[in-house]
Amino acid sequence: MQKILTHSEKQTFDLGKKLAKALRGGEILALTGPLGAGKTVLAKGLAAGLGIKKTINSPTFILMKIYQLKAKNLKLKANKLIHLDCYRLKNPQEIINIGAKEYFGQPNTITVIEWAEKIKSILPSGQTKNIRIRLKGANHRQIIIDK
Ligand SMILES: Nc1ncnc2c1ncn2[C@@H]1O[C@H](COP(=O)(O)OP(=O)(O)OP(=O)(O)O)[C@@H](O)[C@H]1O
Ligand SMILES: [Mg+2]
Repeated sequence: MQKILTHSEKQTFDLGKKLAKALRGGEILALTGPLGAGKTVLAKGLAAGLGIKKTINSPTFILMKIYQLKAKNLKLKANKLIHLDCYRLKNPQEIINIGAKEYFGQPNTITVIEWAEKIKSILPSGQTKNIRIRLKGANHRQIIIDK
């Protein structure tokens, strides 16, 4: 377990960028934390670190967005990033219905999930990395990365 304190949005974004460098493919990043914690900021950093130039918006109203990845380095086997936001989800079955579960853990896919606790029951635990964000005042966040 790793505990990191960030003191600005940029620091959280940069942490996402840094975490992205260790990704190979098949990882599921399960983000939890209250409204405004910085889950989307971290997801944006991850996307930037994976070489995505497009702006990543919170998919709150869309549930799932898929971004294509270009092979940037030989270690990265994934060719897509799936960004899910489960905030409005009533039941994990909805994730299965839209076909998102089929991507989980696939070597060609990196998955980042906001409000991941809502679909904990359908996440493959072996490939899931839990990242919890705690509010520590207006601009401070504690980010706890399991494993
Ligand atoms: N250290 C920090 N790290 C990340 N964000 C921070 C930090 N300090 C302040 N902020 C602010 O907190 C907000 C985080 O918003 P963000 O949309 O990423 O939260 P979220 O966890 O995705 O919320 P939601 O559950 O609504 O999707 C932004 O307005 C950002 O500027
Ligand atoms: Mg968000």
